[in-house]
Amino acid sequence: MRMRFLGKTGVKVSELCLGTMTFGDRGFFKNIGGLGQKEANTLVNMALEAGINFFDTADVYSEGLSEEILGKALGNRRQSIILATKVRGRMGPGPNDIGLSRHHITEGCNASLKRLGTDYIDLYQVHNFDPDAPLEETMRALDDLVRQGKVRYIGCSNFSGWQLMKALAISDKRGWERFVTLQAYYSLMARELENEMVPLCLDQGLGIMVWSPLSGGFLSGKYRRGQPQPKGTRLSGPQPRFLQFNEEKAFDIVEELDKIGLKHNATVAQAALNYLLAKEGVSSVIIGARTPEQLADNLKTTDWEMSAEEVSRLDEMSKPLPLYPYWMQAMGPPEPEPE
Ligand SMILES: NC(=O)c1ccc[n+]([C@@H]2O[C@H](COP(=O)([O-])OP(=O)(O)OC[C@H]3O[C@@H](n4cnc5c(N)ncnc54)[C@H](OP(=O)(O)O)[C@@H]3O)[C@@H](O)[C@H]2O)c1
Repeated sequence: MRMRFLGKTGVKVSELCLGTMTFGDRGFFKNIGGLGQKEANTLVNMALEAGINFFDTADVYSEGLSEEILGKALGNRRQSIILATKVRGRMGPGPNDIGLSRHHITEGCNASLKRLGTDYIDLYQVHNFDPDAPLEETMRALDDLVRQGKVRYIGCSNFSGWQLMKALAISDKRGWERFVTLQAYYSLMARELENEMVPLCLDQGLGIMVWSPLSGGFLSGKYRRGQPQPKGTRLSGPQPRFLQFNEEKAFDIVEELDKIGLKHNATVAQAALNYLLAKEGVSSVIIGARTPEQLADNLKTTDWEMSAEEVSRLDEMSKPLPLYPYWMQAMGPPEPEPE
C-alpha cells in the first residue's frame, strides 16, 4: 500500500482509506450496511493488514454507532491510525443539535471523541456547508479545537467552489487553521468535480478524499445491462438512489472496465478505483464494503496500475456535459482571421 501526503500537510495516509458508513444498523444507514461489531472488526483487521492507516467515519453514520464500532475495532492500534470523522448533521431533536455553529461543533467534537474512545481526532471535517451559520464562527470554532489539541487537521466535504474559497480566505486573513482536505463525490459516473473543485484544490494545496468511488456499488461490475439486479444490495434496497447517473452510459463504462480489468487480471471494481488513483489532486480514495469478499477485492486495487492510455480512454467515455463558463474558458477568446 503506497502512502500519499494528506494535501499539503506533512502527514502520510494510505492511498486507500477505509470508509465505515456500513458500520452500524440505525436509521437511514441500516440499508447501507447494517454491520455489527464482529463483522466490522474483520474489515478493520483486513484493512490494517493490507497497510491501510486511514479510516473515515461521521457522527451521523448509524446515529453515532459507526464511530463507536470503529473506535472499538481499532482498540490500542489507534495511535498509528489517521482517524477522520465529521460534524454537521442532526444528532438530536433540539434546535442546536445540527449545523456548524460554535455550539454544535464544540458539543459534536466532544461527543465524537467519547464515541471513538480517543482524546484526539486527526482530521475533523465539516460534512456539508451550513448556510445559516456565519462562516467566521465555524472557522474560529474549528481553529479553537486544533489549539485545544482535540483535533489535528480540519477538512470540509461537499462544499462548492465559492464556499471553500471563502472559508480559506477567512482562515488566511485571521491566521486560523485552514481546511487541508476536500471530501467529495468523484467517480467515473460523476466527474463534475473536475470543473472547479479539482483546479481549486490543486491551486490551494488541498488533498481530495474521494467518496462513493463505485457510485454506491454500481461500478463494481455486479449490475449488468439486461440482467436482473442483484438482491440485498444498497442500490436494490427500498431507499431512493441519491446518486443520480445515466445507467446506459454506466453500463458502457462497466464493459470497458471489464476489458481493462481482464488485461491486468483484475476486477471491474479494482479498475474503477484504480482510475481514481490516477487522477490529479487525489490524496486517498475512500473504499466502502459490506462484506470481507468485497473488501478483499477492493484492496487488490493497489497491486497494479492503469496505463495512461487506459485512463484517457475512460476519460473520453465518461466525459460529463460541458458546463458554462468552463467550456468558454477552455475555448478562449476568438482569434482574428488570418488576412
Ligand atoms: N462526505 C460525504 O458526504 C460522504 C458520502 C458518502 C460516503 N462517504 C464516505 O465514503 C465511503 C465510501 O462510500 P460508499 O460506501 O458509497 O462507496 P462505494 O464504493 O461507492 O460503494 C460501496 C458499496 O458498494 C458495494 N461494493 C463495494 N465493493 C464491492 C465489490 N468489490 N464488489 C461488489 N460490490 C461492492 C457495497 O454495497 P452493496 O453490497 O450494498 O452493493 C459497498 O458497501 C463511506 O464509507 C464514507 O466514509 C462520504
